[in-house]
Amino acid sequence: MTFVRLHEVGPRDGLQNEKRVIPVAEKVALIDLLGRSGLRDIEIGSFVSPKWVPQMADTPQVMAGIAPVAGVRYAVLVPNLRGWDGFVAARVPGVVYEVAVFVAASEGFSRSNLNCSVAESVERLVPVVAAAQAAGVGLRGYISCVTDCPFDGPVAPDAVAKVAAMVRALAPMPVSLGDTIGKATPATVAAMLDAVLEIAPADQLAGHFHDTGGQALANIETALGKGLRAFDSAVAGLGGCPYAPGAPGNVATEKVLALLHGAGFQTGIDTDVIAEAAALARRMR
Ligand code: HMG
Ligand code: MG
Repeated sequence: MTFVRLHEVGPRDGLQNEKRVIPVAEKVALIDLLGRSGLRDIEIGSFVSPKWVPQMADTPQVMAGIAPVAGVRYAVLVPNLRGWDGFVAARVPGVVYEVAVFVAASEGFSRSNLNCSVAESVERLVPVVAAAQAAGVGLRGYISCVTDCPFDGPVAPDAVAKVAAMVRALAPMPVSLGDTIGKATPATVAAMLDAVLEIAPADQLAGHFHDTGGQALANIETALGKGLRAFDSAVAGLGGCPYAPGAPGNVATEKVLALLHGAGFQTGIDTDVIAEAAALARRMR
């Protein structure tokens, strides 16, 4: 049986979008429950500007509050050196972390999300990547708007491949390909992956699908067909992106598990614990 790795993004990509101020203790309870499910990757927060994303301003308190599970890697988003310094000050000795850096395939979304051009956003990451490598912290790259941008419209597959090459030139990190606004279809995903697979092998790529258009599972099947074996998802379909109008809802972890297990893939994840976490996540909204 083939193994598929799920990267749980609910506590970050999900909760960053909730209007309600969610107490640290509730976030910690969700993360700790997810940690007992067999998931190996859980994204727990971001070191971004608290003015831009106030929902993630308590990431240091969340990091201090969780009960780390052996074998689980806890990921945080870092946009610049200031964010890296925040992460370093907050990290708890002995816990395995991953730093996720993020850029966009479209200029419109880059401006909206990071207040700079795509090239500038990659340039800002040079010292972050160097610091992470010197500290022995694992890296992951995100590319947003890999098929459609809320500002620029359809995104050319070659533009995504070009940005993937820029990210991979920083360091040979795995790259998550984001359909930020949930507009992708199996056809646009296939065309985009054909271009990106010229830059990086399938085992270095992950699919990150939002389910706004109801196509996320079909898009995951397409990506599985292209050889991808890593996907991002959020319990209870939490989420969206505050800087991408019309981006509610990451694909739900429980739906992805049903698809994968039904197709005979192994994930190592306990669906009962995920169902419990999804119920908890629904109560947090
Ligand atoms: P800026 O305003 O251009 O930055 O924002 P600046 O350098 O001019 O700084 C402005 C202020 O922010 C200053 O403070 C800085 O100190 C502070 P002030 O002097 O005004 O008091 N600052 C910071 N504070 C805390 N942490 C930091 C930091 N950096 C600067 N790291 C910036 C530039 C990148 C900071 C801003 O645009 C930002 O925070 N953007 C993040 C937006 C975000 O988090 N979006 C959601 C995550 S991405 C996503 O969801 C997509 C994904 O899921 C994949 C997909 O679906 O496609 C990953
Ligand atoms: Mg997202």
